[in-house]
Amino acid sequence: MKKKVVYICRECSYKSPRWLGKCPNCNAWNSFDETIDDAGARRSSTGKSINSASVVKLSEISTDKQYRIHTRIKELDRVLGGGIVPGSIVLVGGDPGIGKSTLMLQMCFGIAEQNPLYVTGEESLQQIKYRALRIKDIYEELDILAETNLETIVNAIKISGANVIVVDSIQSVFSELIDATPGSITQVRECATHLQQLAKKHNKAIFLIGHVNKDGAIAGPKILEHLVDTVIQFEGEKTYSYRILRALKNRYGSTNEIGIFEMSENGLIEVSNPSEVFLTGRNDFASGITIASIMEGSRPILLEVQSLVTPTNYGMPQRVSNGFDNRRLQMILAVLEKRLGIPFSHNDVFVNIAGGVYLNDASADLAVAIALVSSFKDIAIDAKTVFIGEIGLTGEVRSVASIEQRIAEADKLGFERVFFPTGNASKILKKFSVKLEPIERISALFHHLF
Ligand code: TYD
Ligand code: MG
Repeated sequence: MKKKVVYICRECSYKSPRWLGKCPNCNAWNSFDETIDDAGARRSSTGKSINSASVVKLSEISTDKQYRIHTRIKELDRVLGGGIVPGSIVLVGGDPGIGKSTLMLQMCFGIAEQNPLYVTGEESLQQIKYRALRIKDIYEELDILAETNLETIVNAIKISGANVIVVDSIQSVFSELIDATPGSITQVRECATHLQQLAKKHNKAIFLIGHVNKDGAIAGPKILEHLVDTVIQFEGEKTYSYRILRALKNRYGSTNEIGIFEMSENGLIEVSNPSEVFLTGRNDFASGITIASIMEGSRPILLEVQSLVTPTNYGMPQRVSNGFDNRRLQMILAVLEKRLGIPFSHNDVFVNIAGGVYLNDASADLAVAIALVSSFKDIAIDAKTVFIGEIGLTGEVRSVASIEQRIAEADKLGFERVFFPTGNASKILKKFSVKLEPIERISALFHHLF
């Protein structure tokens, strides 16, 4: 079969039959790599006889619980779906300097019995040692290989007897057998494919650390996301020490769970009680501050919502939100303006979620709305009050999921009052010491508080 040359954009994987200076899809300049389009050839070269197809009955497929390797890091296990699955391949993404190498190194320290192997293509052995020296509880016998040549790495994996391998980073690995420059999309894809087959064949778990390009996508890359079983992403603001680990894709678990860490002087520390970390613990709030109770996966987290509403001096009023969806903010403002008659259209509005967290939960609407009104009226809200509820376009407060867990978290942390959707009231069976205040419409709450 004749091999066809195609050009693929390094940034967004756009394919073109000719080389282009600028990608028509993502507008990146000079991002095309030449590669051989051998998809057709590969399909016909699997060498399998068509008679060997093994069809099985659904009922015959066994569903033994997947064996998992538990790392000593609970927050990581949770995001992976309960631990490392042998034979799986995981892509670890995140901005440079966020802590990917540290997380992977700490994971290796916690699974000594799996004979982990850490392959470094980016840093020298000394750099790895310096990083390790900052971390407590290290595993002195950890195998480390400073190598970028795929064939050498594969060989080392086969003879090392390691069950878990970290490759830091996949972009640094190249194969001599492939005629493309190291770091190019062809190299990255082929090396990752090779490692994936190795993982499956020998039942080893392989973690690939991947760089993130300027738009936050894992570079080279959409292709890698399809190839691996799980994609986890390490996020956080550089200025905060908190880091959030999320699964963007997981063939072996939910993508709702998050892991929370703090980068300390001695490596990453797990944060198992996030609410206590994200709340300031102050007893008096300035105007514009409220507490929301949101769910991240199966965990409730209490967060501080801050807002500032100031008269617009000239031109278009600004709407700036940090950690909250801007369109959702616009909607809440429109509802407040229409239903409560508050003239936000003459005001600049700023919303900030404390701690560098991104709120992706409509149940925080009520907390955001009350924070906005509180700032507008310059009337502070009691610091021991929590707001739960989604806001609908008619100003109704809509029910949310997991109401008991959200209230329980507020109760546990010593809050005194919770406003929540009336529609949820029948779902609350437990007794709480926090005072429960069901609320049907935003207007009723407004008259109650202001
Ligand atoms: P690193 O794991 O090298 O990030 P990545 O692999 O994602 O590029 O972590 C880099 C940052 O973390 C670096 O700025 C130093 C900081 N750090 C600490 O603050 N404490 C520590 O104990 C360690 C190991 C790193
Ligand atoms: Mg690194």
